[in-house]
Amino acid sequence: MKAELTFDAKAALGEGPVWDAKSQSLYWVDILEKRIYAGSRVVAQLERFVGCLAPRRGGGLLAALSDGAGSSFLVDLQVDSSQQSVLAAVSESANTRFNDGKCDPAGRFLAGTMAMNETDPAGALYSFDGKRVTKLFEGVTISNGLTWSPDCKTFYYIDTPTRKVQAFDYDLAAGQIANPRPVIQVPISLGWPDGMTSDTDGNLWIAMWGGAQVAKWNPKTGKLLEQIPIPALQTSSCIFGGKDMNELYVTSARKGMSEENLKKYPLSGGLFKVETKVTGMPAFEFTRAYAK
Ligand code: BGC
Ligand code: CA
Repeated sequence: MKAELTFDAKAALGEGPVWDAKSQSLYWVDILEKRIYAGSRVVAQLERFVGCLAPRRGGGLLAALSDGAGSSFLVDLQVDSSQQSVLAAVSESANTRFNDGKCDPAGRFLAGTMAMNETDPAGALYSFDGKRVTKLFEGVTISNGLTWSPDCKTFYYIDTPTRKVQAFDYDLAAGQIANPRPVIQVPISLGWPDGMTSDTDGNLWIAMWGGAQVAKWNPKTGKLLEQIPIPALQTSSCIFGGKDMNELYVTSARKGMSEENLKKYPLSGGLFKVETKVTGMPAFEFTRAYAK
């Protein structure tokens, strides 16, 4: 498998890729540049950090925005007009922002937060059903990859500095998690586990921050199955897309890189595509009605 550059975005912090089946396009964000892209096109330039987003079934996007000082918002965003309406507010006492998030298979939106300094365990993971925001757990340092097993009964989650993938039982009807257990331990030689997605075989594809690769794992055995080199050092997230759902899209970041590493990885901040032999789980849309 070979990574192909699809857009040399030079993103400061490319993140949150999501395949929109309706428009057959890839939405993703540059968190620090406060920008939303569809492919190579900027579709929204915002005033707050945008951590992640999800396409909404009826059109438009649900986006997780933060001021970086503990005030975050889930907003309905119309991409053409950039019109926003706040659906819910999330307040935290530390200087935090939203990071990775996505919809569950029942159309709720789950998103996590992290401290701006990336070291305080001041973040949490939240679930939004259109009416209420529920905190699923707290004490998170860098809330990152999240995904579900093909039968939707298991939820996988990464808090990057733990170097672990945790599995939880997932109650899809109630949106609740239980029974946390570590299923993958990532060695330092691969980088730091960041964004994550799953394929229809139930394997996990994890972007390795600092590792210039995406790694494929079997969460049932904890074994590393495959490594796909990406010509960007800080790979941040990945998602399956394409008309046959076999293309893996990978985001990356330039922030914090040394001059030397930027020379070595000039495409850092780019958006990449890898053709795989598997099919990915679809990106789920936000299907819940908003509370009036
Ligand atoms: C965050 C970055 C962080 C990185 C590595 C990303 O998901 O957005 O701020 O540096 O993970 O932990
Ligand atoms: Ca990430």
